[in-house]
Amino acid sequence: MKRPIIALDLPNRQAIDDFLSHFPKDESLYLKVGMELYYQEGPAIVRYLKELGHDIFLDLKMHDIPNTVERAMKGIAGLGIKLTNIHAAGGKEMMMAAVRGLETGKPSGQTRPQLIAVTQLTSTSDEQVKEEQLIPVGVSESAKQYAKLTHESGVDGVVCSALEVEAIKKVTAPEFICLTPGIRPKGTAVGDQKRVVTPEMASTIGSDLIVVGRPITQAENPYQAYLEIKKEWNGEKSYANN
Ligand code: C5P
Repeated sequence: MKRPIIALDLPNRQAIDDFLSHFPKDESLYLKVGMELYYQEGPAIVRYLKELGHDIFLDLKMHDIPNTVERAMKGIAGLGIKLTNIHAAGGKEMMMAAVRGLETGKPSGQTRPQLIAVTQLTSTSDEQVKEEQLIPVGVSESAKQYAKLTHESGVDGVVCSALEVEAIKKVTAPEFICLTPGIRPKGTAVGDQKRVVTPEMASTIGSDLIVVGRPITQAENPYQAYLEIKKEWNGEKSYANN
């Protein structure tokens, strides 16, 4: 069964422990550790979550010169993470360096962590792309171009809205990973997300991975919310509809 990735947008280890106490101990989760948590707790938090039996998407969105990114990727690959990311704006050379770093640093006998790229942040508007970045084609053409570059660099996929999946797979490959945030099951709060889709829609559209934060972390019963989203994501009816 495909697992939704839970965004652990929580500040520290105590908050993580409180959150995970809602789940059965033997339930292996796919967890996203982002900058907030990683910069507070460091690599120890990743080792800790791995020891509990979970898989990790380390969302650090690296963007620096190729040599620095290669060496940083080599280091985090050693943590045994499953997935991490970079900014496509770093360019082809940087993206290829990131892949090399992960390959060199992976624990022996394991496959290298998967790597995806952020094209244009979803917080970036069309005006910003045109007026600040001086890219006249605008945000969605720019994101498509970055997706093509990402694919040509040997990176495994991109972060994108479910609404962009079809266009991105067309300019890359069917197996090119499209990871989609902005997921909201029917009837849950949208919050600050602008263009949301349900887990079922994301699945139908062809997203390969979904990231879900607040609909699980802020649910009254996080485990039940997780199970419902997981069912929907796997094409089964959610409890709410039964
Ligand atoms: O709480 P919510 O489900 O909106 O959380 C979505 C997660 O995905 C957050 O960690 C957010 O930073 C991340 N994300 C996003 N949109 C992107 C890239 C990442 O919402 N384009």
